[in-house]
Amino acid sequence: MCGIIGYKGGDQAVSIVLEGLKTLEYRGYDSWGIAFLDGTGLQVKKNVGKIGNFKGFKALPEANLALGHTRWATHGGVTQSNAHPHLSNNKRIAVAHNGIVENYQALRKRLQAAGYTFHSQTDTETIPLLVEDFLKKGDDFPTAVRHTCLLLEGRYSFIVLDADSGQLIGARNGSPLLAGLGKDEFFLASDIPAFLPHTNQVVFLDDQQLVLIDSALRLFDLRSGKQLPVKPQKISWTPEQAEKGKFPHFMLKEILEQRESVSRALVQDDEQLEKIAQLITRAKQTVLVGCGTAGKMCLAGTYLFAKIAGRQTHFCVGSEFPNFAPFVGPDTLVIAVSQSGETADTLEALSIAKKRGAKVVSLLNVYGSTMMRQSDYNLLINAGPEKAVASTKAATGQLAVLALLAYATAGRLAEGRKALQIASAALARTLDDAQCKRLKALAQKIKAKENLYIIGRGLHYPIALESAIKLQEVSYIHAEGFAGGELKHGPIALIEKRTPCIVLAACDETQAEVLSNAMEVKSRGAYIIGLAPQDNEVFDLHLPVPDLGIASAIAELVPVQLLAYYLAVLRGNDPDKPRNLAKSVTVK
Ligand code: F6R
Repeated sequence: MCGIIGYKGGDQAVSIVLEGLKTLEYRGYDSWGIAFLDGTGLQVKKNVGKIGNFKGFKALPEANLALGHTRWATHGGVTQSNAHPHLSNNKRIAVAHNGIVENYQALRKRLQAAGYTFHSQTDTETIPLLVEDFLKKGDDFPTAVRHTCLLLEGRYSFIVLDADSGQLIGARNGSPLLAGLGKDEFFLASDIPAFLPHTNQVVFLDDQQLVLIDSALRLFDLRSGKQLPVKPQKISWTPEQAEKGKFPHFMLKEILEQRESVSRALVQDDEQLEKIAQLITRAKQTVLVGCGTAGKMCLAGTYLFAKIAGRQTHFCVGSEFPNFAPFVGPDTLVIAVSQSGETADTLEALSIAKKRGAKVVSLLNVYGSTMMRQSDYNLLINAGPEKAVASTKAATGQLAVLALLAYATAGRLAEGRKALQIASAALARTLDDAQCKRLKALAQKIKAKENLYIIGRGLHYPIALESAIKLQEVSYIHAEGFAGGELKHGPIALIEKRTPCIVLAACDETQAEVLSNAMEVKSRGAYIIGLAPQDNEVFDLHLPVPDLGIASAIAELVPVQLLAYYLAVLRGNDPDKPRNLAKSVTVK
């Protein structure tokens, strides 16, 4: 939530920061801004709206020191004055901030009492003013920033530029921040793709760390001020992976990448899988934790463990985990599922679990993320950068790895891997032009509908829930997923004439009953779209999906993602940046 970037090096700082901001826009896109130091002093340019819509890039001068911000508003409305960067009163200090300063009201009062003026309603503006205040009291710039950090409560990361010394500092406490090392140039950003075209040498900051950039890059502990060793790591992602290429949107690119990404998810170290499987077997309880799409994949995971390994596991939404904390102890295993590894609600669950002595395994996409560094064991889904806000290839990767883990828990890893590899190849074959055409035609047919329902039973129930999220977030059509058997207990009252209802009818033990549920809603006028290997008389429209056994659930996700994408485009929405949303929800 909110993207930040800083650069010091050659004289292309403004272009590099603006390009980086475009890459980070998926983290927030209601306004943006940049501060840079040119020959005349500290300059600031801010705008409401998406940076992609800004036309005046060429008019900006170049510099060798700059920072930028793309905003997802928390404190203060979407206005130019609330857009970052925020400046100190003496215009020496500029700050771009991600996160929340929870004690900003008290800090604001204290600063106002000391004579400082606020020009925005943001919590962020306290930061440059505190730095200014510590500088006035005699601190040098790095010490002033460190002293400021010690006063801030909440999860944050920020980048701060000092026009006098020409230094750049990044500080991290709970929100993501990493540094990139180029040749005679340094980067700071919320995420790797922001500087990936320039370097793949990355320094991951831990919480309570501060990085100082002048002619070199130095790392410090925030509390003690002690210098720490810098350990760069080489990242395997390529710049092309983080670009749209020939596709009109990242979402379409990422949906189609599932031709390969599911099989990449299956490339896991057997020893690691078996070690985690053993933890599951030995634990008194295993709790899968995640939010949004990742949460739905966790719920699907509980069905996979039941079906494949005959093992009961539990699911808890990240934000609800604190309510169950009393039942978590050293005999609990928590499996945190997250694309970004930065979701605040999941991170909080993980931290509670660790405090109570539980072991934590994370299933992630982003290497080096906070969750990765805070977990006892990790599994990476190898999906490559996911840039569209709506999670697609990460979801199928998560499901594939959870299935593999269930097979490992059942002591049938080799068999499971083979079955899943066959399924992933079949999935790749069906994700073709004909499939895209079918989904586009369906989107055309239902684009004016106000409501849409999806039903599934068993493992297909979480898939119905996930389908609803996908349709809601990019098409803005009211979509809801239900367990097929639940309809008659209430939701069936919502069905009207020609209401579209997607029925997930894989060839398994759920098929006969979900088809009966389909009949129940059809009798009340619903338009039935059957996602199934074979056609059935209850379907008004049949969308074929391959029969992949347990992996049929993965195959069902893809057509709904495509439907959501085409609906978004036809309804004039931006599928990559849906309204009100941001990828990586780093606030609670
Ligand atoms: C929906 C979506 C979100 C995320 C959720 C968790 O398409 O992307 O619901 O799944 O915010 O994010 P991660 O997986 O990064 O923890």
